[in-house]
Formats: sequence, structure tokens, C-alpha cells
Amino acid sequence: MTKTDTATPGLAYLETRRLEVDALLDKYLPAESVYPRRLHQAMRYSVLAGGKRIRPILMITAYEAFGGTASDIIEPAACAVEMIHTYSLIHDDLPCMDDDELRRGLPTLHVKFDEACAVLAGDALHDLAFELLAHSGSARAVAELARAIGTAGMIGGQFADVAAEGKQVTLDEITYIHAHKTGALIRACLRIGAILANVDEQTLERLTQYGEKIGFAFQIIDDILDVEGDQKELGKKIGSDCKNLKATYPGTVGLEQSRTDAERIIEEAVAISREFDLKDNYFEQIARFIGWRKK
Ligand code: IPE
Ligand code: IPE
Ligand code: MG
Ligand code: MG
Ligand code: MG
Repeated sequence: MTKTDTATPGLAYLETRRLEVDALLDKYLPAESVYPRRLHQAMRYSVLAGGKRIRPILMITAYEAFGGTASDIIEPAACAVEMIHTYSLIHDDLPCMDDDELRRGLPTLHVKFDEACAVLAGDALHDLAFELLAHSGSARAVAELARAIGTAGMIGGQFADVAAEGKQVTLDEITYIHAHKTGALIRACLRIGAILANVDEQTLERLTQYGEKIGFAFQIIDDILDVEGDQKELGKKIGSDCKNLKATYPGTVGLEQSRTDAERIIEEAVAISREFDLKDNYFEQIARFIGWRKK
């Protein structure tokens, strides 16, 4: 079987779900006509610029796979994680961080608007995300997200990422950076979806392991694409990591080993997903998509 043969059904699922998420985001973002207009314009500019919507899709997939049916619970929650993700990208692109000018095929927010606006729009997306997730009525879900994006998760990883600039890191150090800056939110999306569906703890544990694997692989592939991706397809400038002397997975173990490791980790994730014995194993399709993605 060729890669395209197995990728196609996964892509169809992701495409349908992406369009659903896009429409929900449009609904839950403040309107541009509402004061302060420029701030709301900025938030909408970055969120609606596009993006694969992998994180909300993972959350919805987990929710439905484990029996969740209430759209008024999962829809705001799914938008919340995409808003958190977009806030993290806006801040990640700032001059004091990765200093990037292109994101999702458009000028980054601080370039298109200004730096203060980018900081505040990022903050506001973060705040709105928690308001939306609170609608689920699940304190556990709110705590899960807060922990995943704080010092024990995404921000811890982002801090280590910046601190490692210009340094040669060990495999343990790059694993910490990737598992935290990127893996933690991806893992949390799956966990929150499953928690909202009242999944049993044993299944939640296996889903968490699946999430850790695809989250880690996601960032390995991101690093590979920064070296050999296509700018137009990727929607961001390649070579950003090299410019910033970033610690990366390929920089630590080489490109070839990075590809091999990502493939192995994705196969491990696929194996876990099969244990769930689902009628449609979208977890497998998404894991494979992450391995083959070009954007
Ligand atoms: C980019 O995330 C930043 C990382 C954590 C690697 P995505 O590759 O999911 O970006 P979008 O949302 O599709 O633009
Ligand atoms: C970003 O990692 C991780 C977060 C935003 C939390 P990168 O800096 O590698 O992401 P890109 O390449 O700019 O999308
Ligand atoms: Mg970065
Ligand atoms: Mg970056
Ligand atoms: Mg990157």
C-alpha cells in the first residue's frame, strides 16, 4: 500500500472537521465591529488565517470516540484549545522569541499590526479560551488545560527552548523541550475530550500515551520541515531554527535519525489506537497524517 492510499481517508476526515472548526471559531470570536475593534480584528486575523486545526480535531475525535454527544459542551472546548494554540504562535513569533515574519501564509501579527497589539491579542485569546472551556462545567477539564500550558507544560517547554538557543543539547534535553512546548497541549486536547466524555481512567491513561507520542512526533516533523519543507506549502519561512541557533531534534540526532524516530513513534501511537477497538479509528489516521504531513 502506498502512503497516499492510506493517507487519503485520514485527509478527508481532517478536511471535513477542519471546516467545522473554522465555522465555530468564527462564531466564538468577538466580532470586529465590537470595541476595541483593532484588538478584535487582530485576534480574528491570526485565528482565522487558517491552520490545520489538529488540536481541536483531536479533542472532538476523543470526545466522540468515547461516547460524548453534547455539541454545546465540546464545541466551545474545541475552540478554546485552538485559541490557546494561536496565542502561543502569536507570542512565539514575536521579536523577543523566534522573530518570525510569516505564519499561516500571512505576515505575523506583530508585523501586520504592532507588537503591543500582538501581545494583547495573544493574552485575550488565552483569556477567552478559559471562558469557553469553563462552559463545559468541568473543573477537571479547566485544570487540565491550565496545567498543560503552564510551567509544567507548554510555557516550561518554550522557556527551555529559548534558553537552549546557541547550545548543543542532549537527547534528554531536546525530548523535554519537545514534549513540553508542543506535546503537552496535544496530549491535553485528547485528555480533555475524553474527560468530557466521562471515559474510564484506564482508557484515559492509554489515550494519554498515544497523545504523548503523536505530540512528540509532531514537533520532530516540525523541525524536519523547518529544514527541508516548502515555504509556500508550510505557510512559514523555513530555516527559522537555523537563524535562531535553536536546539532541534535533527540538530541533535541528525535528519535521517529524526525521520526514523518519528516513524517509529507514530507506529507506536497507531498500535495504541488499535487497542481502543473503534469502528472508525480516526486516531490512526491522524497519527499517520502527522508523520507524512508537508505543512
Ligand atoms: C505549529 O503548529 C507550532 C508547533 C507547535 C509545531 P501547527 O503546525 O499545528 O500550526 P497550524 O495551527 O497548522 O498553523
Ligand atoms: C512552537 O515551536 C511551539 C509553540 C508555539 C508552543 P516552533 O517555534 O518550532 O513553532 P513554529 O515552527 O514557529 O511554528
Ligand atoms: Mg519557537
Ligand atoms: Mg517558532
Ligand atoms: Mg518550528
